Amino acid sequence: MRTPGTTLADARDLLDGAEAVTFLTGAGVSAESGVPTFRGGGDAPLWRDVRNAEDLSHPDFLHADPRGFWEWMQYRRELVARCAPNAAHLAIAAFQATPGTRVEVVTQNVDGLHHRAGSRSVLELHGSLWRARGIACEHTHALLEVALPALPPPCPTCGGPLRPDIVLFDEFLDERVFQAAFEAVVDAHVLVVVGTSALVMPAATLPLRARRAGVKVIVVNPEPTPIDDIAHVVLRERASVALPFLLSAAAT
Ligand code: OAD
Repeated sequence: MRTPGTTLADARDLLDGAEAVTFLTGAGVSAESGVPTFRGGGDAPLWRDVRNAEDLSHPDFLHADPRGFWEWMQYRRELVARCAPNAAHLAIAAFQATPGTRVEVVTQNVDGLHHRAGSRSVLELHGSLWRARGIACEHTHALLEVALPALPPPCPTCGGPLRPDIVLFDEFLDERVFQAAFEAVVDAHVLVVVGTSALVMPAATLPLRARRAGVKVIVVNPEPTPIDDIAHVVLRERASVALPFLLSAAAT
């Protein structure tokens, strides 16, 4: 395979005239808002003394210690509530609002920052910290207030405990959301993959499927990732630096 392009000009050439552009984002797009990523933070614990995302965001933890699990969720909800969308989220939202290009946003993030930046129709592959559902009745409810009366909070529908409406390890993604994401990715002319380690399945398969469908792939990440090999352009840059420059130029 040929060597990928590495410059903003290479990326702009791909975006120039593209009628459909899809963004696939991960924790790195929110890093500069102050939301910690899951990997690449050295040996620092994610929460209390736990270092592995797989141990915390796991149904075993939720079922063994529902209150402890909600304390981890509250730590994340309170942290995200104090953060604001950064220049990368805002650039994507502005690009999406520009007439002439069909722009879809697919995210692995549960922080809601794309919505807060003004993006519409965000496909949240892993759910949202700002929704919950009854463990017994499975009814979904918005959970926008940060402070909660009890942990776990009660479900307004069934009165039983709520769980966050996020996808935990060893759980399946919502099939309809994944199918919509798949279509958004393979139907695009350009896929921009921003701030993901591309290690967590099945989201990590999406860039490969795009590439096989003939979509041009741009990776934006300061660190190497397993999908760099299949990308047409790799920008070793922070999202808040690369995206505003790239997308403001493409929108003009
Ligand atoms: P990771 O934490 O695995 O990877 C974050 C990526 O962002 C790394 O590749 C970093 O190099 C990159 N990065 C860091 N700062 C950046 C910046 N300023 N600009 C651009 N990139 C930057 O996050 P994800 O790939 O999103 O799942 O993780 C996938 C899933 O694993 C998450 O959705 C979550 C997690 O466990 C669930 O909770 C189900």
